[in-house]
Amino acid sequence: MASFKKEFKSAEDEKNTKNASENADGAVSPVSPEKDEAGDFDNPVRPLSFDEYIGQTKLKENLLIFINASKKRASNLGHHDLDHLLFFGPPGLGKTTLAGIIAKELGVNIKITSGPSIEKAGDIAALLSAVSNGDIIFIDEIHRLPKPAAEMLYPAMEDFKLDIIIGEGATAKSIRISLPRFTLVGATTRAGLIPSPLRDRFGFTARLEYYDEDELAAIVARSAKLYGIGIENAAAVEIARRSRGTPRIANRLLRRLRDYMAHLKKDRITLEVAKFGIESLGIDKLGLDANDILFLKTVIEKFGGGPVGIETIAQAMNDEKDTLEDVVEPYLVACGFIQRSKKGRVATELAYKHFGLIKEDSL
Ligand code: ADE
Repeated sequence: MASFKKEFKSAEDEKNTKNASENADGAVSPVSPEKDEAGDFDNPVRPLSFDEYIGQTKLKENLLIFINASKKRASNLGHHDLDHLLFFGPPGLGKTTLAGIIAKELGVNIKITSGPSIEKAGDIAALLSAVSNGDIIFIDEIHRLPKPAAEMLYPAMEDFKLDIIIGEGATAKSIRISLPRFTLVGATTRAGLIPSPLRDRFGFTARLEYYDEDELAAIVARSAKLYGIGIENAAAVEIARRSRGTPRIANRLLRRLRDYMAHLKKDRITLEVAKFGIESLGIDKLGLDANDILFLKTVIEKFGGGPVGIETIAQAMNDEKDTLEDVVEPYLVACGFIQRSKKGRVATELAYKHFGLIKEDSL
């Protein structure tokens, strides 16, 4: 059994290769929201407290109430008793960051792993036997936990007990061991894929929302300061507009524009630098990148606007169905460009308009 830390690393390695968001031409999208900032809490712009964390206001308020109440109870109990939390929503909106902040607020350690890096029930047993009282365990992509591993979690989440089978066949015996109290924070891009016995064991479930322009502009200004990059206000707003409502994309775009700033021999990111860089990166006026545009054009041009199944779109784009469903499609749905119907995906009138086209059945 690999050590926990090693497991976490390999999960990240796996992500780095698997999630490189290649489109049909093999081009890697420069601002796709996969994790380059992953679980690394060394990332200099990652907020470390609720005060630093911009956006998700209602969720932050709720979390603070739960944390403060459980800290108060800790004076009687001797430990906090924060319930298990499930965060869902598109990638790059701050699920991992929130888990880190919660651990810091509670003054406990956080152990980070992910569904795909857990292969068997024994991996969960090893993970849980290494927890100390009060620890946060963060499982990213929890919808990808193998079934036996998820089942091992049920008694652990509910009663802080681990059922271990010793031996094989007729002589196999089940023993139950007690675990220290821990809080599981699960994150997923696909809440619908979590088996309901697992979903039911979370005491609070929250959807992270796309960020608005003001929030993203404030995040960009904060990150620029921390990176030591000079930026005009108007340029921060421009980045905010072109970042698909996603801080991870905004921060990545900021770093790319720092390169364009050097290329254009400027000492700060002006609106002109921002516009030049954004245009060069092929990001359109709504922040759609090459992959988003390819998705929409595939539905419109190859499949007459749909309805068309996601597998068929993935095949036509030479892309992964899961990446399209988790990363690309949610924003197109949020923009009102794509509708999901029972028969498949449909490009809306708004999507046609975006490309200066008219949808026939709207005539
Ligand atoms: N960087 C990434 N996400 C952030 C957030 N929500 N607030 C501040 N900085 C961030």
